[in-house]
Amino acid sequence: MDSIRIRGGRPLHGDVEISGAKNAALPLMIAALLTSEPVTLSRVPKLADIATLTKLLSELGVDIAAPDNGDADHSLILRAGNITSTVAPYELVRRMRASVLVLGPLLARFGEATVSLPGGCAIGTRPVDIHLAGLERLGAQISLEDGYIHASAPDGLKGAEYHLAAPSVGATENLLMAAVLAEGETVLHNAAREPEITDLIHCLSAMGAVIDGTDSDCLRITGQTKLHGTGHRIMADRIEAGTYAIAAAVTGGAVELLGARAPHLETPIECWRQAGITVEETARGLRVSSAGRIQSVNLTTHPYPGFPTDLQAQTMVLMALAEGSALISETVFENRFMHVPELSRMGADIELHGGNALVRGVKALRGAPVMATDLRASSCLVLAGLAAEGETIISRVYHLDRGYERLVDKLGACGAKIERLAG
Ligand code: UD1
Repeated sequence: MDSIRIRGGRPLHGDVEISGAKNAALPLMIAALLTSEPVTLSRVPKLADIATLTKLLSELGVDIAAPDNGDADHSLILRAGNITSTVAPYELVRRMRASVLVLGPLLARFGEATVSLPGGCAIGTRPVDIHLAGLERLGAQISLEDGYIHASAPDGLKGAEYHLAAPSVGATENLLMAAVLAEGETVLHNAAREPEITDLIHCLSAMGAVIDGTDSDCLRITGQTKLHGTGHRIMADRIEAGTYAIAAAVTGGAVELLGARAPHLETPIECWRQAGITVEETARGLRVSSAGRIQSVNLTTHPYPGFPTDLQAQTMVLMALAEGSALISETVFENRFMHVPELSRMGADIELHGGNALVRGVKALRGAPVMATDLRASSCLVLAGLAAEGETIISRVYHLDRGYERLVDKLGACGAKIERLAG
C-alpha cells in the first residue's frame, strides 16, 4: 500500500487548479441512466471513485468513452441506450456508497433495480432509509434480501408529496432522479440544498426535466415521459478548494485557487476570516493567505448552507495550531472524529466528548507516522503534515485517491516537500 511522505514547515505559494467536484460528478454520471441519448460531461475529475462508478455503469450496459479531445477538458460521453442489467453488485457498491444513487433512475426508466446495501467511508452507520421511504412514496415496492435492495415499479413511478426526515444529500438526488420520469407532480419537502444538487438540477433541466425550487428546500418536479441527451460542465470542487485554502493558511503561505467559487464556501470563508485568514475573490477564483498566528473559532457542522462536515477535519488542523481554544461540533455524522487520535500523535491537544471536540491550540505540530482512516480525515493529516516540524508519513493513502485529484503534484507545485512512496 502506498504512503505519502511530507517534510513540513514550508509556506505554500502559487496557484492550484481546482478539479471538478467528485460529489457532483457521481450523481451526474448516474443521471445518464435516465436517457438513451448521449450525455457529455466535462471537467470530470480523475479519481478512484469515478473509476469505480465507471465500472458499475459499464456493467449495467452504459457505454462510456472519452471524446477525441477528452483529456483537454476531462470529458466523458455516457450512452445508456442499451441497458443490459439493473443489478448493482456488492463488489462495486461496497467500495463506494454513492452507487446507491442508481436506484432512482433505474427504477424510473426500467421499473426495477437491485442494488447492494452500500458501504463507503467508515463515518457512522449511514443508513439509506430516507432514500427507500421516498421511493416507496413514489409507488415503488421495496424488499431487503441477502444484503440487497430489490425495488420494482412495474407500472411506473407516480408523483407524490414527500417530506424527507432529514435533508439527506443522497436521498434528495435519488428522489430527484426518480421523480423526473415519474407520472405527474412530485414535491420534495426538506430537500438538501447543497450546490452539487443545484448542479444536478441544471443538468437534468438541460435534459428536459421540469424542476422548480432550485436552491430551496422544497423541490417541485413535473415528471416527463422521456429525457434527452445534453452536455454539462461539472462545478468546481468546493471541498477540494477548501482543503487547499487551509493548506495555504496553515503553512502561512498564499495560494490562488483557480476556479473556486466564493458563494459555495460562504460559511467556511466567514469562519476562516474570523480566524484571521485573508480570503479574497479574484478574477480567477479565490486567493487565500495568512501571515500571523491563527485565532480560535468555534464551529458546528450543518447541512448546506451551514459549515460542511466534509471540511470539519481539515479545519481542525487550523484550530489545533490556533491561539486559544475552539469547540468543534459535528452534527451531520456520528463517528467523524477518527482523525483526532492521529492529530494527537502529532502533538495536537484535543479532548473528545461525543460529537464535540475541544481543541486547545498549540504552537507547533510535530511530524509522525500516521494512518489515514477515511477520505476527509486523510486530507486533514496531509494538512497537519504540511504544517508540522519534521517528517510525516501517512499510510493507507488510497482514501485520498478517492477524492483528491493529483494531490501530491498540486501541493508540490506550490513548494510543498511531498512525495508518494510506492509500497
Ligand atoms: C453526501 C456526500 C458526503 C457528505 C454528505 C453530507 C456524496 C457522494 N457524498 O453524502 O461527502 O459528507 O453528503 O454533506 O455526495 N441519513 C439517514 N438516512 C438516509 C440518508 C442519510 O439517516 O437515508 C443520515 C446519514 O446517516 C447522515 C446524514 O443523514 O447522518 C447526512 O447524510 P447524507 O446527506 O445522505 O450524506 P450522503 O449523501 O451519504
